[in-house]
Amino acid sequence: MIAINGSPRKAGNTFQAIQIVFEELAKENIETELIQLADKRIEPCKACYTCSKTKNNKCGGTPDDDLNGILEKMLKADGIILGSPTFFANVSSSMKALIDRAGLVAKMNGPSLKRKVGAAVVAVRRQGATDVFSALNYFFLINEMIVPGSTYWNLGIGLAPGDIQKDGEGVQTFRNLGKNMAWLLKKLAK
Ligand SMILES: Cc1cc2nc3c(=O)[nH]c(=O)nc-3n(C[C@H](O)[C@H](O)[C@H](O)COP(=O)(O)O)c2cc1C
Repeated sequence: MIAINGSPRKAGNTFQAIQIVFEELAKENIETELIQLADKRIEPCKACYTCSKTKNNKCGGTPDDDLNGILEKMLKADGIILGSPTFFANVSSSMKALIDRAGLVAKMNGPSLKRKVGAAVVAVRRQGATDVFSALNYFFLINEMIVPGSTYWNLGIGLAPGDIQKDGEGVQTFRNLGKNMAWLLKKLAK
């Protein structure tokens, strides 16, 4: 089970929301790994469609940045959390680059992410989080992934790092998401 944090703030609200989901997964002995896009370099998609010719589950257009390494981990994982802050009512630019490139490569290969479990985690100060939630879910659904729900859409409210902890309903939504994700992963593993 991996989570990818698309925030440039490595210990910010998106990170903290992911940790809440991770806590619930850990209670069910599900191993987790966090990838911080803040540490990575992911160029935008060039739309070269090299991936449609090579069909090797790799991006051939920009093979020398961090996308292929992350995609390899996504392909090995049985579940993927994509976390993003809300930036102008959309995902962060690093998350968008990941969605475009990992999404196109996966689509050209099966899709190779088919039937993995996917969940979105969003941080927001005020508005635009459901657009981010939708953008992340579009990625999962077009890749034929399976998406568990929670008691609300998976977003937490806060501006400064840590503010999200004061959003009680948001925290509970992430907890319930973790529980539902664990339940689903276990069912699918049978
Ligand atoms: C460039 C930028 C754009 C932002 N746009 C929005 C926005 O459209 N709506 C909003 O409510 N908050 C917006 N925010 C605030 C962040 O979504 C909020 O601080 C969030 O908690 C950041 O998550 P993080 O700590 O994981 O980076 C923006 C922040 C930045 C830096």
